[in-house]
Amino acid sequence: MKGLNIVIMAAGNSTRLKSRLTKVMQPLCGKPLIDHILRSARALRPKKISIVVGNDKDTLISHLRGQKDLIFAHQRERRGTAHAAQIGLKALGKVSGPVLVLSGDVPLLKTETLKRLLRLGAARPLSLVTAVLADPFGYGRLLRDGEGHVYGIVEEKNASAEEKQINEINAGIYCVDAAFFRRALSKVKPDPIKKEFYLTDIVEAAVGEGIPVHTVSAEDSREILGVNTRAELAYLQQLRRTELIAGHLENGVGMEDPSSVFIDEGISIGEDTHLGPGVHLKGRTTVGKSCRIEPGCILVDAELGDEVQVKAYSHLQDCKVKARAILGPFARIRPGSLVEEDAHVGNFVELKKTKLGQGSKANHLSYLGDAIIGKGVNVGAGTITCNYDGKNKFQTRLEDGVFVGSDTQLVAPVTVGKGAYVGAGTTVTKNVPPGSLAISRVEQKNIRRYKKR
Ligand code: UD1
Ligand code: CA
Repeated sequence: MKGLNIVIMAAGNSTRLKSRLTKVMQPLCGKPLIDHILRSARALRPKKISIVVGNDKDTLISHLRGQKDLIFAHQRERRGTAHAAQIGLKALGKVSGPVLVLSGDVPLLKTETLKRLLRLGAARPLSLVTAVLADPFGYGRLLRDGEGHVYGIVEEKNASAEEKQINEINAGIYCVDAAFFRRALSKVKPDPIKKEFYLTDIVEAAVGEGIPVHTVSAEDSREILGVNTRAELAYLQQLRRTELIAGHLENGVGMEDPSSVFIDEGISIGEDTHLGPGVHLKGRTTVGKSCRIEPGCILVDAELGDEVQVKAYSHLQDCKVKARAILGPFARIRPGSLVEEDAHVGNFVELKKTKLGQGSKANHLSYLGDAIIGKGVNVGAGTITCNYDGKNKFQTRLEDGVFVGSDTQLVAPVTVGKGAYVGAGTTVTKNVPPGSLAISRVEQKNIRRYKKR
């Protein structure tokens, strides 16, 4: 919306969460709460967003660094929501027109609800979002007169027994005209019980000026729920997770047991891909079409092409796997690895910063670190790259068509040339010329009649 400015109050601490991490940096479906708020805020195309940050601001600021539409306003002392809003508003400079105020701890808010609030509130001094909750405990309650006009908001701590019965609550989301906002905030007095400046007091300021207060009711009351405790954080994550999973099912992703699958915010999965029970897709992971990911697999920042199979209990991190590759069961693909088309990585095989070329196979019990492996290479069972001398890491190269027998150690830096063979049990310490056979074995002795002796 043209001319819209936003204030996000995020200086709250994590006292009730008992966490060292600031509240708005707590993850929900893999993304900090602040990212969820910013997603719905930015969908409104505001001019500027001012974020009110507290003394534990450093992780938050470094997380959001470089996002040019953001202004950070530092609230040195946590003196209440009115104080926070005032600092946030000031940081926006000489703005006029509507200012949208959001709470950093209300992550599931829908852009649609904000749009409804703006349609109603853009040209009015004060509008806010409300919801009706079966259990309104902890929230500010809406006070309405006989004709339904709002005349105040009372906080849980200040509410009488009768007021506590009211289940229409304040969501903490407001659309306020900048000029009225400055005026109203300057009139707010500290609360006698908590000694904080309550933003909700601007409602009384409006009523005092004869200004009507408008409300928009959230269609789904769950979207306005706030995060104050670990239990609430877990519950909201559960809600968002269910929503994300419903979206993937809708897009043609198959799941036998959706309730056991965890998919972070913002992950794309191609059609006709199947996820087994207990699969976790995290971070910047992307999955192509028609893949099969079997039970218990964990993928973090992994990029999968089409028709990839990841068999049970494999762990992939920060890696790229191209079309039709088959991994696992029990494969571990570590950062910086690339598995090319049609390659196979079998059970108990670990790859670290290794490229496994097209159609190559490492099927059993191997550690391949800092290796560049060409096309059509066969890596025998138990092959190990000795890539580390205690100080430095070295590279191993297996050129196209190499055959490595079982139980081989490749002492890096070393290259096995195109089409060469390495006999089983060899410790390769020197480069192997293309097409040759390397073998280092102590000759076998048979001691006859040993049992009798
Ligand atoms: C607030 C509302 C309450 C509403 C509820 C909805 C007030 C007085 N009460 O209560 O009516 O039902 O939200 O979730 O506003 N913050 C700061 N600086 C401060 C204080 C708070 O930045 O000095 C931030 C917090 O980080 C949080 C937001 O403002 O993101 C709301 O503050 P919080 O303390 O959670 O208010 P509630 O008690 O939930
Ligand atoms: Ca809150």
